[in-house]
Amino acid sequence: MEIKSKRLHLHTNQGLNTMKEIKLEINIEARNYNELTEEDRKLVDAACKATQRSYAPYSHFSVGAAALLENGVVVTGSNQENAAYPSGLCAERTTLFYANSQYPDQAVKTLAIAARTEQDFLDTPIPPCGACRQVLLETEKRFGKPMRILLYSKSDIYIMEGVSALLPLSFDGDYFNNELIPSFFIKVTYARTGICVRMYSFIRTYA
Ligand code: THU
Repeated sequence: MEIKSKRLHLHTNQGLNTMKEIKLEINIEARNYNELTEEDRKLVDAACKATQRSYAPYSHFSVGAAALLENGVVVTGSNQENAAYPSGLCAERTTLFYANSQYPDQAVKTLAIAARTEQDFLDTPIPPCGACRQVLLETEKRFGKPMRILLYSKSDIYIMEGVSALLPLSFDGDYFNNELIPSFFIKVTYARTGICVRMYSFIRTYA
């Protein structure tokens, strides 16, 4: 079993040594199909099968998703396209919206995603689009439990233990309600100009 990790640099400020550098690390486990648990294998199979129910006459790119709910129910969905392109919907959102509307009190334990062209399944794991990542995040937050994600391909299957691996530094509903309070400020004086700038750093408060 191979462990792959990707490092995301948010910003580096070499010119100003008073600035902070923040590095986020995300961990992705890569396994092949035979190394999956039986539960994960079944879910990946369901996602692959769901690609057959995709409606993709425009892209000819069929995506399937399968959500394992806490009560053991597996809900599947696929991408549904439309001649008015933005009216279509990705497999992940079709699946999660259906799961959440039918089982509003059931957390999603694991979501498996698979994709194929007209020829075959992909050789590299299919990453969900940005809009779907935001919806994955909302589903995870809604139930307050990590949602595992399985990205299928013919070679590696990527396993993530929660949505933060797909969407670090994310926006969510907490920002509406929580008060921002200054935690400290940094005074920066630019040597050449003598201009003094105060920079506040904020922490979030949780009620
Ligand atoms: N698609 C998905 O279903 N999920 C994704 O995460 C990426 C894209 C679909 C949308 C469209 O029907 C087709 O793939 C081509 O973009």
